[in-house]
Amino acid sequence: MNFKLSEEHLMIQQAARDFAQNELLPGIIERDDKQEFPTEQVKKMGELGFLGMMVDPKYGGSGLDTISYTIVIEELSKIDASAAVIASVNNSLVCYGIEAYGTEEQKKKYLTKLATGEVIGAFCLSEPEAGSDATSQKTTAIDKGDHYILNGTKNWITNGSTASIYIVIAQTNKEKGHKGINAIIVEKDTKGFEIGPKENKLGIRSSDTHSLIFNDVKVPKENKLGEDGFGFKFAMKTLSGGRIGIAAQALGIAAGAYELAKKYAKERKAFGTEISNHQAIAFKLADMHTQIEAARHLVYKAAWDKDQKNNYDLSSAMAKLYASQVAMETTVEAVQIHGGNGFVKDYHVERLMRDAKITQIYEGTSEIQKIVISRSVLKD
Ligand code: CAA
Repeated sequence: MNFKLSEEHLMIQQAARDFAQNELLPGIIERDDKQEFPTEQVKKMGELGFLGMMVDPKYGGSGLDTISYTIVIEELSKIDASAAVIASVNNSLVCYGIEAYGTEEQKKKYLTKLATGEVIGAFCLSEPEAGSDATSQKTTAIDKGDHYILNGTKNWITNGSTASIYIVIAQTNKEKGHKGINAIIVEKDTKGFEIGPKENKLGIRSSDTHSLIFNDVKVPKENKLGEDGFGFKFAMKTLSGGRIGIAAQALGIAAGAYELAKKYAKERKAFGTEISNHQAIAFKLADMHTQIEAARHLVYKAAWDKDQKNNYDLSSAMAKLYASQVAMETTVEAVQIHGGNGFVKDYHVERLMRDAKITQIYEGTSEIQKIVISRSVLKD
């Protein structure tokens, strides 16, 4: 067993850390305030290979492992969780979904553009009445021989207006339940495809989240991912990897808030000494450090499982469940350590606290992770 990162992993970590400090930190408060998408920063992430990290270089990707990806998402999230989720969805839901289950033509046509960051993608599963209950898809894709006709609405879609390529999960045969669902690639400029209003969110405010409306959208059959009826399993398998990305995001948010709180505690004086000399603060930092380290072990273990080609449904669900809980608790404590300063935007911890909440909700709520975990541990 080796808990040390390799030289290559350390270099990737440094590159991500430098990028976050130099490119993401400037202007972050304004972007959060105005809900402004980090267009230039996303372009640079593409140039650095952060948008197709695990994709084979023959399709324009960086050809790296899941540990590298986890390191990058953690580092981005310490500063800017919005930029991190944009990258995470593109990498682990969209690129992975197409690389793992797409045809050679789909990979050539879509994956290369997505992996290089020429365009970004979105993953469209959630609906007004099908968030956690993902088998209850109301969006339909009616088989018309050589094409499908899509109708319905998707909700809370990350990269909703900025994406160019959308993986849409839709029902093709209601009688067949989850076996009557397909995953279909839809291009943005397809007739009848409309982007709904932008959500005004609590956190990750500079990532753009929209509803999407499909009104008799005609999509060629060759855009189907995998076999007929594979759409639900496609979503589940893809989300297992996605949860490693969100767990890494939660870990980064927690670690970012902890680093700010520790620095503040060593500088800020009260009752004649730095507040870190008071046990009330020192013990908080001890708890935060311990929780973050425990979360990091779960997150990196899940990434390692994926790299080893082990089943990672259980480890990714545990990593996401625990890391998101740590993100929430740690950021609340970071605000508390900052006192009144923690409540104002200039100190960054209030933003991290707001950003933390979504990690307990998207790509499966904490309750969904507990369903996945309990089913797995109880099955034998
Ligand atoms: N891999 C492969 N197959 C899987 C699987 C997995 N990880 N999980 C389930 N399946 C299969 C099952 O084996 C079963 O197949 P069979 O009938 O052939 O045996 C089938 O899928 C149905 O499984 P379940 O009976 O377990 O389905 P369920 O209705 O009980 O739901 C659930 C299970 C875990 C609750 C699932 O619905 C779920 O994960 N829901 C949450 C969805 C989610 O994460 N939504 C987030 C939206 S995406 C997002 O947030 C993106 C973004 O923009 C950030």
